[in-house]
Formats: sequence, structure tokens, C-alpha cells
Amino acid sequence: MGKGVIDPWSADLPEDYKKIVKGFGLDSFDVKGFPNPNLLMRRGFVFAGRGLKQISYCLNQKKPFYSLTGIMPTADKIHFGTKSVIDMISYFQKHGADTYVLIADLEAAATRKVDLKESRKRALKIHIPCYIALGLDAKKTKFYFQSENNDVTNLAFQLSNKASLNEYRAIYGKAEPSRIMASVLQVADILHPQLKKKMPGVIPVGIDQDPHIRLSRDIAKRSGFVLPGSINFKFLPSLSGNIKMSKSEGNSLYLLDNDEEIRKKVSRALTGGQKTAQEQKEKGGNPEKDMLFELFRQHLIKDDKELKQREEDYKKGKILDSENKEFATKLLVKFMRDFRKKFEKAKKQTAKLFKE
Ligand code: TRP
Repeated sequence: MGKGVIDPWSADLPEDYKKIVKGFGLDSFDVKGFPNPNLLMRRGFVFAGRGLKQISYCLNQKKPFYSLTGIMPTADKIHFGTKSVIDMISYFQKHGADTYVLIADLEAAATRKVDLKESRKRALKIHIPCYIALGLDAKKTKFYFQSENNDVTNLAFQLSNKASLNEYRAIYGKAEPSRIMASVLQVADILHPQLKKKMPGVIPVGIDQDPHIRLSRDIAKRSGFVLPGSINFKFLPSLSGNIKMSKSEGNSLYLLDNDEEIRKKVSRALTGGQKTAQEQKEKGGNPEKDMLFELFRQHLIKDDKELKQREEDYKKGKILDSENKEFATKLLVKFMRDFRKKFEKAKKQTAKLFKE
């Protein structure tokens, strides 16, 4: 875990997830509390969270709750790992959650110098259609831009006196005005669904975003809101096995990658195989250290039996890296083709939602 500090601004990422659960004081995730768990939940990729009992209760008793996520439209590509966030949001949506997806355009303006117009353009062209294409119900999801939601900005101003500068420092290490503004706004994003009615919420986040959740819960406590919960999943490493985004450029998969890009990235993937085919036939490979298997487990092979069989065959040396790469390419190409179709449809839906 590097320096032992994980915050949303540095990329010091975790290796030992169990230590994190303990060190951060998170709830470990118990799949038993959640009906019809998705892949990420039943295969251990969802590993922790906060306030999970409350969320499980709402889901099982059909009590009102909400699920929310936000994205800064800083890039014009979306990392494949974002699918995990949306998989979780869709899971909660299917199980009765009011669903919110916000475009963090004010945050992007303050912390990344992306102007509001540019953010809007990218969000409508790429981010929102991608999210819909990943499985969100376009009609039932409330999409909004921070810069256009007065409830959120008004709430942010009201909540700005609920935490001290020292608390921001303790959470983030350093406290710059732009970061503080973005953080208060994010707390307002997270709590604003409760302006109408107090209820629990669940925010799927990478563990690096946990400081935001802690701050949201502290401020919620002081302001009479129900404490929002969170759910955390393990990172999807790049195909070269790196979980630091900055180091994985060129080896990370993006939604909408074309066949050629897929082929190139898969061919360079870090595998759990041996140095030569002969050696692999004799000794077998290790699917736990193989980035293609990581993709199969997290996203591409839905059937548990099929996955297990492939892992067994790989361990026994019955499947060589070349074959596995071919198979991964086939699955990815198919995924992207289906995705592109859904994306085109979602673009039309998005245009309707945001008629200008
Ligand atoms: N800070 C998030 C990012 O860096 C974006 C964001 C803003 C967000 N408000 C949020 C995420 C509320 C989750 C919940 O991308």
C-alpha cells in the first residue's frame, strides 16, 4: 500500500485489500445480504463498504433508498473499469434504488481546468450514452450537471460550515480552495437526494474515494441527514497488470476500443503462463496472475461453470497463452460490437433527454 495513505488525489493504490478493510474501518461485504448478486458481488470483487447492513435491509424490505455516482468528464474515453461502477449502480437500480448520475462539471472546472461547455459536450457525446449503454435505465435515471442543479449548489453552501479546515487536511493531506470546493460539492451531490425525503443511499466507489464518503458521513451526522453508505470494489488492473492509471496508458482497455486496439492490447497482456508453450503444457499456468482471466472474472465470462473449467484447463496446461489471447480477443470484440450498437441507440436517448 505504498506510503499507507490512500486519498483521491494521489495514485498510491492498495495491494492488500484485507488490511484496508481493517485499517479503514470498513464493513466487509457479505454477499448473503444481497439477492441475485451480480458477477462482481458473487466473485469477491466487491469486498467492502460502509453502512452495508442498512442498504441490505432496504433492498430486502423494499424500503426507499438511492444510489448515486458522478463522473468528471475530463477525458474523451472511458476506462473499461468504469463498467464496474455502472454494474453496481444498475444492480441497485434493478433492486429498487432511485438512481442519480451526475456530471461533475464544476469539479472539473475547479480542479482540472476543463470549462463547462467542454464538459457538457463530452458528457452528452460520450459519458452519458456510455452509461446508458452499460445498462442504466435511461428513463429512470436522473442525470444532472452540477452547474445546473441549484439544489446541489445551494446545499453545498449550507454544508460548507459543517467541517473544519483541519478535517479537510486530515482527510486529504493538503487543503486547497479548489479541492475543498469540489469536496463540499461532492458531499452535496451525495446528500441532495435526501432533500425531498430522508433515506439511505449507496455510492459505489473505488477505495481511493473513501475519504469523500467519510466526510459525507461526518457532515450528514451534523446536518440531520441519514448517513450515506458506500460499496467498494477491487480495481481492474490494466492488461499489463498495472493498477496505477498513470502508468497504464496504452495498455488499458477503453469502452469503444476498435478491433485493432483490442488485438494489440490483448497481445501484450501480462499472463500467468510459462516462458515457452512446451513448459506451459508441462507445468500449467496461473490464472490468478493472468490479466485476461482477471477480465473474464470481472466482466467477460458470466457463467461460473465455464469460468471454472477454463481456469482448471489453464492450470493443467491444456490452454496455452496464445489460445487464451485469441479467446479473450474474441470475447472483447464481441462485447465492444454489442456495446457500440447500444451506444448508438443511447446517443439518441441522450439527445432526447437533453433537448437543447
Ligand atoms: N469526484 C468524482 C471524480 O473525481 C466525481 C464526483 C462528483 C462524484 N460528485 C460525486 C462521485 C458524487 C461519486 C459521488 O470523478
